[in-house]
Amino acid sequence: MAKPEFASGLAGVVAGVTDVSTVGQENIGLTYRGYSITDLAEQSTFEEVAYLLIYGRLPDAHELAGYRKHLTELQALPSVLTDTLELIPGDAQPMDVLRTGCSLLGTLEPEGTGGRGGAAIADRLIAACPSMLIYWHRFHTRGERIVTQTGNSTVAGHFFALLSDKKPAPQHLRCLDVSMILYAEHEFNASTFAARTIASTLSDTYSAIVGGIAALKGPLHGGANEAVMELISRFESPKDAEAGVVRMLRNRQVIMGFGHRVYKNGDPRSTIIKKWARELGQVAEDEALFKISEKIEQVMLREKRIMPNLDFYSASAYALSGVPQSMFTPLFVIARIPGWVAHVIEQRQDNRLIRPIASYTGSPPRKYVPLDQRDLKG
Ligand code: COA
Repeated sequence: MAKPEFASGLAGVVAGVTDVSTVGQENIGLTYRGYSITDLAEQSTFEEVAYLLIYGRLPDAHELAGYRKHLTELQALPSVLTDTLELIPGDAQPMDVLRTGCSLLGTLEPEGTGGRGGAAIADRLIAACPSMLIYWHRFHTRGERIVTQTGNSTVAGHFFALLSDKKPAPQHLRCLDVSMILYAEHEFNASTFAARTIASTLSDTYSAIVGGIAALKGPLHGGANEAVMELISRFESPKDAEAGVVRMLRNRQVIMGFGHRVYKNGDPRSTIIKKWARELGQVAEDEALFKISEKIEQVMLREKRIMPNLDFYSASAYALSGVPQSMFTPLFVIARIPGWVAHVIEQRQDNRLIRPIASYTGSPPRKYVPLDQRDLKG
């Protein structure tokens, strides 16, 4: 039979148009609504970027203050949700907790009620996801029922305030803020495409986000940042890491946090988060994780000419900021909500059902055999 023609994994296929971001375009690079990721990571904050993605333009100072205040008002959780979080097993995966929490909130505050549209749902989930994640975490690890409305006006500050009573260092706050800017949007990646496909059926925004979370969970996508942490914490020294990674490559194993479908000459976000991982290691006078990571980067370049993606140095940056490993991918969810919803809104503006076709490789046509005449052994 002739080999069917198709683009495996839809690689290189232009599956639609977007005004939200550019990824890997020559002379442009990564931009959100026309702004370069370097400028945004250096000069802006996550709330500004969320507003930009969801509402289509940067807020002025007055609008930003109002937006931040609005987010603080959305941090509290309904009791049905906190009761449910208590019922979810303590050893569940945090990504499953978020997926369930968002789904439940969709039944309590459905789209369309109270004038609630996609943008309002994005705002609610940006504020409420850290609350639900850490309410569940603290209830099951310490038996505490925390008040989730921290009143903290930044999402990074809200996250840290929920996590512990200890005030975070300014560098840890800013590192988390920058990492969330970097994670906020990335064109037609797997989870965003899943969210757009769901939106294209005229389903609701919560469903699109739940689908996005489900797609993000996998280690080839968002789950990679946790898998990187598992990898780097296995090694005691850069020398140990070098030997270990060479061995893994010989066994044809995938090294998490490396490679990218679009970026073949490096991920611009990796350079930014690497600086943070280095700086946090120096400040903590604990450079072991960074040095191990840097050695793995050198080995991957030497052996495979493959560069790190955003997830690679995010792992050490998060660990040095005091974020528990199991919350690395959930943080990616919180950061990506603006991107997902920007795409849901855009999809709806000029919707056409997303429904590609497949090249069939199964059995040739055959005669149906009624149940009572079927002899499976024969
Ligand atoms: N470790 C080892 N080899 C890798 C690799 C990695 N992380 N990423 C790619 N390669 C190799 C592949 O094995 C393949 O080699 P081959 O041609 O000898 O078979 C070659 O590089 C091309 O990779 P391919 O799998 O075709 O790229 P892709 O575009 O389909 O996959 C990823 C992209 C991201 C899924 C892939 O690079 C990967 O699995 N990375 C690790 C997971 C990760 O970090 N995900 C987060 C992405 S932001």
